[in-house]
Amino acid sequence: MTTRELTGLEGVVAASTRLSLVDGNAGRLVLAGYPVEEIAPRAKFEEMVHLLWYGRLPTRQELKELTANLASRRRLPRATLTLLREAAGNSAPIMDALRMAAATLSLERRESPEEDALTLVAAFPAIVGGYWRLKNGQEPIQPREDFSHANYCLHQMFGGEIGPERARGLETYLNTVCDHGLNASTFAARVIVSTRSDLVSAVTGAVGALKGPLHGGAPGPALDMVFEIGRPDRAEGVILSKLARGERLMGFGHRVYRVRDPRADILATAAEKFYATEGDRELYELARNIEKIALRVLAEHKPGRRLDTNVEFYTALLLHGVGLPKESFTPTFAIARVLGWTAHCLEQLRDGRLIRPESEYTGPVDLHFKPVSERPN
Ligand code: COA
Repeated sequence: MTTRELTGLEGVVAASTRLSLVDGNAGRLVLAGYPVEEIAPRAKFEEMVHLLWYGRLPTRQELKELTANLASRRRLPRATLTLLREAAGNSAPIMDALRMAAATLSLERRESPEEDALTLVAAFPAIVGGYWRLKNGQEPIQPREDFSHANYCLHQMFGGEIGPERARGLETYLNTVCDHGLNASTFAARVIVSTRSDLVSAVTGAVGALKGPLHGGAPGPALDMVFEIGRPDRAEGVILSKLARGERLMGFGHRVYRVRDPRADILATAAEKFYATEGDRELYELARNIEKIALRVLAEHKPGRRLDTNVEFYTALLLHGVGLPKESFTPTFAIARVLGWTAHCLEQLRDGRLIRPESEYTGPVDLHFKPVSERPN
């Protein structure tokens, strides 16, 4: 293994899991036994919650109970709302507000890991939607318990009636990205909980890991690129000049997938369906054209490295279509991935051992301490 691979832990197996199989060479993703392309466009998000937490799809009765349990935990504690108001007053970025607010969820109760998991999954949309509204000078909306999780996510931001196409588009997205092997934020969560810490701490750390542009922060810039290009005939020029400046094209490349990310196809199909009835069809066509050109240019630019479309490119298009503002793309990713984080934490608490790798020391070993007064200025 090369030092480059080792420093990024590429190819290192650091945990075993029954939650998701990511086959980077075949471009295959299986969620607790189900091919992602089969389950994501059809299941309810609440069914995915049951599948990942309990290892199987729920019966009708179990689904009803889990749905009600989640819905009853949507209302945010007073302290969380106070913090969100403070954060909005300071114009904090939305992922920072989510990280701070996530940490407050342990304030009012000391709960079991399973109950913490329920609270985290249930509360994230209220935090994201509530903060978005506060930042835009509006009051948060009281969460409705009778809405499905996907509907509730959109309602927390926009209020009013949410059409079934928008809710389905978002639900397909949430299901598609709810878990994905030992990605950076999930690894962070597992490391934290492996010390027998609690789920709120683990998820708070995971939000911090997700924030970076190399992980969850790519869809916003991917959409920016589509808008910047604006017309298919400008695509090649804009892409070439980005690469010449040493920039990475957001929405392309992946640590594990050496072929097209299977999630890109699911979201592209969902986006196509959505834009067929609503939204800006021209934008969708433009993005498809840009993708083709970007793939050709990347193949010429990095002939030794297969750089294909990743999940973020069509995430940007789909989430934009369902009406979400660009700033909320990464927090919406968190609303989905908090399911995977909590499922991994529960699995780690059940079966795991303290995660404690070693480092290779490359510094000197023969220095001797001198007081500051004796060191050169
Ligand atoms: N655009 C242009 N060049 C890219 C690229 C991209 N999107 N992704 C990787 N490369 C280049 C790198 O610059 C590197 O070139 P170098 O060897 O000359 O330094 C080479 O391809 C290998 O990249 P590497 O850094 O080893 O990939 P990685 O496995 O560490 O990183 C990503 C994977 C996802 C972080 C990377 O592909 C990337 O930054 N993509 C854009 C951000 C993105 O879409 N993130 C969402 C991921 S789901």
